[in-house]
Amino acid sequence: MAGWTLGDIPWGRLDRSTVTPDILSLVKAASLVEANAADYRDYLHNVFAGDNRVCRAIEGWAAEEEQHGAALARWATLIDPAFSFETSFQAFITGYRIPIVSSSSVRGSRCAELIARCMVEIGTHSFYTALSQATNDPVLTCICRHIADDELAHFNLFYRHMRRYLETEKLGLFARFRVAVGRLAETDDDELAFAFYAANNLGEAYDCRFHGSLYHRAALAHYSASVVGQAARLFLLALNVSAGRIAGGVTAFFIYALMAAHRVRLATVLRLYGLSRSESRRGANSSTAAS
Ligand SMILES: [Fe+2]
Ligand SMILES: [Fe+2]
Repeated sequence: MAGWTLGDIPWGRLDRSTVTPDILSLVKAASLVEANAADYRDYLHNVFAGDNRVCRAIEGWAAEEEQHGAALARWATLIDPAFSFETSFQAFITGYRIPIVSSSSVRGSRCAELIARCMVEIGTHSFYTALSQATNDPVLTCICRHIADDELAHFNLFYRHMRRYLETEKLGLFARFRVAVGRLAETDDDELAFAFYAANNLGEAYDCRFHGSLYHRAALAHYSASVVGQAARLFLLALNVSAGRIAGGVTAFFIYALMAAHRVRLATVLRLYGLSRSESRRGANSSTAAS
């Protein structure tokens, strides 16, 4: 279990005046994704059936992820009492499920699965570190630091087992790179977009591209160079590449550049949606005027 509980969070120090709508919407979405750990636990149990070391570790890992969801949900409800975690979570798991019945990894092998898990933990460690730096609310800062520490421990857990499997699977560098980048590219899939929608929608219809763009625009606004630098070092570690300072710096530069380009792309997408909406409003007004 995690080295902290919800009782360790200084809830009384909550400072609502410092909370921005963007950060609140991100925390709501994150609470849903974290709380959905049971599905991933079942999936990983299937993939690693017979490997008791991994299966035992997954139990503790899932419990910690669920605690992350509980802490974030409690914080979001204190900031916005209208937020119903139960209702949003139900909507989320109704609309988004992972293939838990699969008896083998969707990544092709156990080693590849562990590399993909490392990528997820790098992403969450970076996300909560960035959020802890971006918020001025002492309660959210405390929650995010605890969670970021857990996510780094999760990375180390999956990394250790990945190294063990690498000895027998002999997955080449290119194959490892392909799995890692493939998993990173999946951050554009339905999970985060739908979680953002389920937690924040005002009754509008779901649109993966639109809600995904809203999520990523809010999330990418908070990454500092130091957060990206550490993500780059962990990325190279997960690839089992011995990274010197230069390799780490170059990788961080590329990641930072990709993030900047992605932010420009997101702004363009959201502008297009804004245009289409104002155009449809104009259309409605002109047809009213014509009638
Ligand atoms: Fe987590
Ligand atoms: Fe984690």
